[in-house]
Amino acid sequence: MKYKKNILCIGAGYVGGPTMAVIAAKCPDFKVTVVDVNAERIRAWNGDRLPIFEPGLLEVVREARGRNLFFSTDIAAGIREADIIFVSVNTPTKTFGQGAGMASDLQYWEKTAHEIVAHSDRAKIIVEKSTLPVRTAEAMEHILQENKKGIHFEVVSNPEFLAEGSAVRDLLEPDRVLIGSRQTEAGLQAMREVREIFARWVPAEKIITTNLWSAELSKLVANAFLAQRISSINAVSALCEKTGADVGEISFAVGSDKRIGPRFLNASIGFGGSCFKKDILNLVYISRSYGLIEVADYWEAVVRMNEYQQERFVQAIIREMFHTVVGKKIVLLGFAFKADTGDTRESPGIHVARKLLEERASLVISDPQALENARRDLAAIVGATAGTVEYEPDPYRAAAGAQGLAVITEWPAYRELDFEKIFASMGKPAFVFDGRNILDHRRLFEIGFNVFPLGKPSLTHFA
Ligand SMILES: NC(=O)c1ccc[n+]([C@@H]2O[C@H](COP(=O)([O-])OP(=O)(O)OC[C@H]3O[C@@H](n4cnc5c(N)ncnc54)[C@H](O)[C@@H]3O)[C@@H](O)[C@H]2O)c1
Repeated sequence: MKYKKNILCIGAGYVGGPTMAVIAAKCPDFKVTVVDVNAERIRAWNGDRLPIFEPGLLEVVREARGRNLFFSTDIAAGIREADIIFVSVNTPTKTFGQGAGMASDLQYWEKTAHEIVAHSDRAKIIVEKSTLPVRTAEAMEHILQENKKGIHFEVVSNPEFLAEGSAVRDLLEPDRVLIGSRQTEAGLQAMREVREIFARWVPAEKIITTNLWSAELSKLVANAFLAQRISSINAVSALCEKTGADVGEISFAVGSDKRIGPRFLNASIGFGGSCFKKDILNLVYISRSYGLIEVADYWEAVVRMNEYQQERFVQAIIREMFHTVVGKKIVLLGFAFKADTGDTRESPGIHVARKLLEERASLVISDPQALENARRDLAAIVGATAGTVEYEPDPYRAAAGAQGLAVITEWPAYRELDFEKIFASMGKPAFVFDGRNILDHRRLFEIGFNVFPLGKPSLTHFA
């Protein structure tokens, strides 16, 4: 079969894999190839145990794989064949040199630009799918245009707004698709070609086109705004605990205002994931590098508040369990940074586990999807502390003989647990620390637990 267009995606991760699977499903006449340097990941994409857990993804992949969706490690061949190249490689926070801990590490991104030049023999459209600092496209253009072959590459920005856990739904029914381009004839033509792909299933009014810099910056700003809401309500939760106000009631009252809205207003142990912290710190770094110190400080406070909230949660566990957790068996219910994903990058669970292990607790980590990642995250920490860790997917087995339960991830299944059975199997006094405010606190109290929600009065049996 001859395909109308060849689309390539470099980077088969949480974004590249699902995004291309949906494009392939919606555009059966386009050949969509996803390449990666990680051969193990590619092997997994070609099998039935996908490298990431994402509800509904396997069905979409199966529909298109082998028909017009291909996963491969042959990056050079992929580049040669492609008309449009999406680049979806990781852009983590720099860990070294200038901007360490704040700026984006663009080495993977730049490497792909050189590879594109090396293996191309005709003009191509390069689409920035990764989240990048504003004005990255300019640097990319310099690398791409300075090829001796005289080939023109047009760079377009198409940041991804999917959320892990709902990636397939977000891709099928996005709130918007954003495409930024140069406002030149060539730039606008490239934008139209990319728009044509999404127009196959996304209504025209949801496809927003802007200049390149607005598209790049919109992604950082969107994540900063989402994270800022979480930090705002978490700041309020600390005040609630001092005053007897209930943060759940406040969220409802405040979120009922149409101008504010109810979403992202649940107090919690804090945000995690590979993006929020990284993207805000990047925004902070960019602002500071333009001399906008007040702007940088403003956004940095969102990250600091998140760290404070995680720390407050651990301190509450230690304080309420009589100022010592040495040798106490404490179960972390959940380890993924949120429900419906196995991803643990920047999960608050990592901070909680590290602190409790330093206090020499005996941890049991339970999670339906994230234990493999948890094991990897905690390997170095366990060796460096006097605490111990076990991994147990079954929450009932995990809780047997434990003194405390700490909810880290809002898995819906945790609401349905038989807490009478769990209470009966635990040491006494038994504690619950609900880092997501998902459990029925009154009921747990009636069963016999001492209950510590976030931003709500605690319920204890102590006089
Ligand atoms: N994860 C999310 O929810 C999300 C959402 C929106 C945007 N983003 C952004 O999308 C980008 C990718 O994120 P992700 O979560 O998919 O990352 P990821 O780490 O899961 O995937 C990136 C992949 O790129 C591959 N890679 C790196 N360098 C390569 C190269 N030179 N050639 C081929 N492959 C290469 C890696 O092996 C890896 O498999 C990031 O910029 C991120 O900020 C992520």
